Amino acid sequence: MILDHDVVVLGAGLAGMRAALEAARAGVKVAVVSKVHPVRSHSGAAQGGINAAIGKDDSWEIHAFDTIKGSDYLADQDAVEIMASEAPRDIIELEHMGVTFFRDDQGKLGTRAFGGASKARTYFVGDITGQALLYTLYDQILKAGVQIYEEWFATALYTVEGACRGAVCIDMLSGELHLLRAGAIIMASGGCGRVYEPSTNALICTGDGIALAYRVGAPLMDMEMVQYHPTTLKGSGFLMTEAARGEGAYLLNASGERFMQRYAPKMMELASRDVVSRSETIEIAEGRGVDDCVFLDLRHLGPEVVMRKLPQIHEMALDFLGIDMLTTPVPVRPGMHYIMGGIKTDATGATAMPGMYAAGECACVSVHGGNRLGANSLLDTLVFGRRSGAASANYARQVQPLTSGEDFLRSEQVRIAALLERPYEGETHARLRLELGTMMDRNVGVYRDEAGLQAALQTIQQLKQRYQHVAVGDKSRVYNQALTFVLELGYMLDIAETIVYSALTRTESRGAQSRTDFPKRNDAEWLKHVVIHSHDGQAPAIDFSPVSITKWPPQERTY
Ligand code: FUM
Repeated sequence: MILDHDVVVLGAGLAGMRAALEAARAGVKVAVVSKVHPVRSHSGAAQGGINAAIGKDDSWEIHAFDTIKGSDYLADQDAVEIMASEAPRDIIELEHMGVTFFRDDQGKLGTRAFGGASKARTYFVGDITGQALLYTLYDQILKAGVQIYEEWFATALYTVEGACRGAVCIDMLSGELHLLRAGAIIMASGGCGRVYEPSTNALICTGDGIALAYRVGAPLMDMEMVQYHPTTLKGSGFLMTEAARGEGAYLLNASGERFMQRYAPKMMELASRDVVSRSETIEIAEGRGVDDCVFLDLRHLGPEVVMRKLPQIHEMALDFLGIDMLTTPVPVRPGMHYIMGGIKTDATGATAMPGMYAAGECACVSVHGGNRLGANSLLDTLVFGRRSGAASANYARQVQPLTSGEDFLRSEQVRIAALLERPYEGETHARLRLELGTMMDRNVGVYRDEAGLQAALQTIQQLKQRYQHVAVGDKSRVYNQALTFVLELGYMLDIAETIVYSALTRTESRGAQSRTDFPKRNDAEWLKHVVIHSHDGQAPAIDFSPVSITKWPPQERTY
């Protein structure tokens, strides 16, 4: 079947839903495609909160500066100014839509401290902020009449004369493939956390949209910038929100020392994430950890704070490790959490490909540069979701409707049918996925060097060869997750390759890219973005893009 809309949004997390809402408000016909039910999107896992400079002692300029310093001066300052200055209106609007943000004893919107921020400007709903926002926006898009294709899985983007004009998707319930044609497509499919193992990300975060855009020629930027969150639960890698440290929790080593005093004496546990993750890694490597972990200590916060403001992580530590954080410190380690890079866009969400917009974690505006501040990602989804919704609606109004696409749909049907029929030769997607993820964590994690990155590249190339022989275990049509897992693995391999190529290219240390063989930041040569392009089945092509500096020249970064 071929279905026509003005704007099609791929992804129903916060960026996708906010984009859809804005496009619908502009009066065009909008659809959202999601491989899961919208409220199961990974935005729902965001715990700690969302930043905005609303308080009297704060200003958007201070928020912008904290963000730029946090980014290790790689963020584009014009884009950061937009995000920080537009943040307050987006928070207030959410409040008016019905988000039950925490209120203080006077009944006013209350904030908590967060990492890398010089003011407490994080608005929150307990430790389920993303979930609260997601449900509210879902209500809003239903009310706005947005068409939702839920449990539809995108296999390819449709381009016509260099413009993005649609996507082929599998309706997972029936197994049928359909072409959604549109005037504009918004990529809002989230991040690629599961390229690493473990990760705080949901199992669905496999970089689908980033890979689909890359495959049709949209450039990716800052892909080497992969954020490790300092507090992920031992074993499972689940997120233990930074809000715990925002509320006053300590990080301890094996001797019970608050070791952050040696690395970040002013901000301590609330230094930016790259700094804290590196400090923990050093503690563990030098023998001051326990079982490759350090400890998150909340005991002194008491049950009133923990149970009122952090109940979810209390339950998670209890369920998954049997540890009651009210009485016992929790073992944590740095774990892959977020990618600062993604599909290169401008501040309206427009990519280098006409008709393609991108917002949220799959996009790179770049407002996070080398290291994102906690609670700036929910903000990014809303500000740039809204902006890409408005810009794409405007664009879509001006393009001619299509009559083509049947041949493209047929070729995708043939490709997917051939994949389904591929005989079993001993390779499974699960084995390759685990090998990829654990290798990325080992070689392309908090610290990197040339030898490890070259080894990673070689492994990815071997995995890509083996991927050609992976069979789909389930040959049926209805809700065939064996099929979508194999397609996801293909996306993950492409993304992993772009991360490693970009990390090899940047021969300096900045933000999350910490090269032991190039330990210093080198502004003279590297105050620029690494941009990567797919290259007809050959090695990717790299070029560079300047960093926009408005008011804040690079300085030494200390916390
Ligand atoms: O720690 C957290 O709650 C994560 C927040 C974020 O990544 O923005």
